[in-house]
Amino acid sequence: MSPALPASEEFSYRNHRLHCEDVALDELATRFGTPLYVYSRHAIEAAYNAYASALDGRPALICYAVKANSNLAVLDVLARLGAGFDIVSGGELARVLAAGGDANKVVFSGVGKSEAEIVTALKAGIACFNVESNSELDRIDAAAQKLNLRARVSLRVNPDIDARTHPHISTGLKNNKFGVAYADTLALCRRAAAKPAIDLLGLGCHIGSQITEIAPYIEAVDRIIDLIDALVREKIELRHIDLGGGLGIRYRDELPPLVSDLVSALLARLDARGQRDKTVVVEPGRSIVGNAGVLLTRVEYLKPGDSKNFAIVDAAMNDLIRPAMYDAWMNVVPVVPRSLERRVYDIVGPVCESADWLARDRALALEPGDILAIAGAGAYSMAMSSNYNARPRPAEVMIDRTHAHCVRSRETVEELFATESCLP
Ligand code: LLP
Repeated sequence: MSPALPASEEFSYRNHRLHCEDVALDELATRFGTPLYVYSRHAIEAAYNAYASALDGRPALICYAVKANSNLAVLDVLARLGAGFDIVSGGELARVLAAGGDANKVVFSGVGKSEAEIVTALKAGIACFNVESNSELDRIDAAAQKLNLRARVSLRVNPDIDARTHPHISTGLKNNKFGVAYADTLALCRRAAAKPAIDLLGLGCHIGSQITEIAPYIEAVDRIIDLIDALVREKIELRHIDLGGGLGIRYRDELPPLVSDLVSALLARLDARGQRDKTVVVEPGRSIVGNAGVLLTRVEYLKPGDSKNFAIVDAAMNDLIRPAMYDAWMNVVPVVPRSLERRVYDIVGPVCESADWLARDRALALEPGDILAIAGAGAYSMAMSSNYNARPRPAEVMIDRTHAHCVRSRETVEELFATESCLP
């Protein structure tokens, strides 16, 4: 029996070979080498379309969070569907524009926007800055005045809500660096509304990532609507509400709500509280691309031991840091399952750190040379990779039915130090 794969239906076993869409993954490993990231175009499209249908008929902007996976082909697939983008740097804006994304569907989040990034984004004509502090508001106002433009802004509120997720990816609590403190928001809105170069569009929040319940979202939206109501009493009328991203995916046995259920619960809440006229902005990242990608890696050595058996593979923490960084559990399955007896392995990479592990205590039937697929690797995987240990980063392939497009070639070692030099 082939192993279960809690991922998109675009990854499935056919004749005991794991496929992405209509392409066998062992063939891809031979053709492009390993480690290799593989993405399914149709899985990305289906995930985006779930948001689009749930929001159909409402004024809405679905801004894919570029940080989750910023490969140009991923951005291109989404731009063709009419997506907007949530960016956190000038680099991400450049990627969106290079991929044919529409600047006027871009929202710019993040606590540390530099003056140069603000100027570039203003000139590009982005939809909105998600402002996270008083000083940032002043900086955007000054830059807009200099350019003789008006900057559209929305304040990112810190609603002090516990999203009940991993502490490293929880962002809506008071002690997180993100967002304007709830108690300071009204005062900051008054300042923003009085500035001639600022067009205050709305309020928003992003309370965390890998959230698996609807309740924290509803709590957050209620707190934001309380602020919107208070502003109406002061004749400050807002036009949009940004609900952030954060919806979790299934890596193992999590049961996150369906996009349709989350969105309808949120829309119902907005309607019940008289906010039907607001443009709804969402910023999903992981739930669009997470289960649309796998990382393929080859077993180099099996190293049995008294207390542990290790399977040493050619991917490492530099390629995929989520296990080391967040203790993340990611499913590991053989691309061509064997009928040997299974043993329990830790799957580790060649990097010289004890934290260089990809999975622990997995029962697998392995031989050196086997190809493993690490599931759920479409989000925060290649995007967080590095060159630690002078390791060139993997190639990336996008599957579109029977076609495999190489959308990023494997780095060469020479490229890694091409911009460095020895002393004269
Ligand atoms: N909007 C803002 C302002 C964000 O900071 C983020 C993610 C998102 C949207 C998208 O959230 P998503 O829908 O992907 O949950 N590296 C971590 C996740 C960090 C998330 C950071 N912010 C991981 O691998 O789990």
